Amino acid sequence: MRKIQFVNLGLQYRSLRSEILAAFDRVSRQGAYVLGKEVGLFEEEFADYCGTRHAVSVANGSDALYLALIALGIGAGDEVITVPNSFLATAWAIARTGARIVFVDVGNDMNINPALIERACTRRTKAIMPVHLTGRVADMDAILKIAKRRRLHVVEDAAQAVGARYHGQYAGSFGVCAGFSLHPLKNLHVHGDGGVITTSNEKIYSTLIQLRNHGLVSRDICNLIGINSRLDSVQAAIARIKLRRLEKWNRRMRFLAGIYSSGLSRFVVVPEEKRYEESCYHRYMIRLEKRDDLGKFLENNGIETKVNYPVPIHLQPAAKSLGYRRGDFPVAEKLADTILSLPLYPEMKDPDVTFVIEMIRRYFERRGSCEKGPAGRARRRGFRFRRSATSKRGCYAKA
Ligand SMILES: Cc1ncc(COP(=O)(O)O)c(C=O)c1O
Repeated sequence: MRKIQFVNLGLQYRSLRSEILAAFDRVSRQGAYVLGKEVGLFEEEFADYCGTRHAVSVANGSDALYLALIALGIGAGDEVITVPNSFLATAWAIARTGARIVFVDVGNDMNINPALIERACTRRTKAIMPVHLTGRVADMDAILKIAKRRRLHVVEDAAQAVGARYHGQYAGSFGVCAGFSLHPLKNLHVHGDGGVITTSNEKIYSTLIQLRNHGLVSRDICNLIGINSRLDSVQAAIARIKLRRLEKWNRRMRFLAGIYSSGLSRFVVVPEEKRYEESCYHRYMIRLEKRDDLGKFLENNGIETKVNYPVPIHLQPAAKSLGYRRGDFPVAEKLADTILSLPLYPEMKDPDVTFVIEMIRRYFERRGSCEKGPAGRARRRGFRFRRSATSKRGCYAKA
């Protein structure tokens, strides 16, 4: 049976193997394995790519968000606004500072709904942390306007959005800081864990440089209480190799996403993109009522899918003390029940994408309906697809 993996990291490694092995050899000979020359070079190149003055590499994306908040002086007694439909690390970064997590529901774009932000603000609110989910930048114009009016910091969770644009501007360059993840499943990744914080603020930059290295300002003097969250030189060298290909890979992701969307839009809700948006499609996420059913069907046909994420953060057992309940964030909750991520990676072949589309088409043909369009409407009115006895075609008839 034909198999389509959700991602295939081995393919990318094979195409870069000689360069990566040479980088490993170079760094190993240099002998500076932590915060070495490669780290500095990667940070310069990453900041340049995002259009910020600085980038500070750290051990992972979770630390990137946490340290950004700490550098802004956020802690116990403060509140930070974010969304419940993200990876746990977004909310837990806030909790680790001692600040209170305040969730706001999302809009149809799956990102924070700016219209709901102000009513969640209190005297204690210090920052908004929008998540650019799936690689689509949140509505930054509206968010920045609110932040300015209310004197709030904006820390972007750009973990999924490296290379994504909004009005031509790169994710990670809107807020005072942004946190990126270099986890192996991200569009730009290293061979293990890694993260980056971008900022154009000099003071925050120098604080972050200390915070990620125990608070040390020089070899023996420590100004701040920091942590050990550094990127290894080998990982930085690998990240540099991949950063050079990122634009090409993201273009390919966008191209494949386009094939998916044109093939699937009559069956399911596909990601939309506004004129001024350029998602990097960290995930290609469709929406449909019987998500689990389709996921099972695809799995039985050799196609791996995922749900990112089936349990919103406010409904996690670990979030109980926050006092939220089901029904508090209806859009995020509905998304959690209806989203399905399809396989997508730059090395994926066009026929693989068309195969996935074909299998989804077959699924709907079997079910005799699709979620959208005339067929969906017919189904909702109680009509069912009946195959004709004489041809492959059929029609909708009252069940
Ligand atoms: C939206 C979001 N925020 C934060 C993180 C945390 O990044 P990391 O896994 O590198 O700690 C991730 C990674 O999955 C993420 O998707």
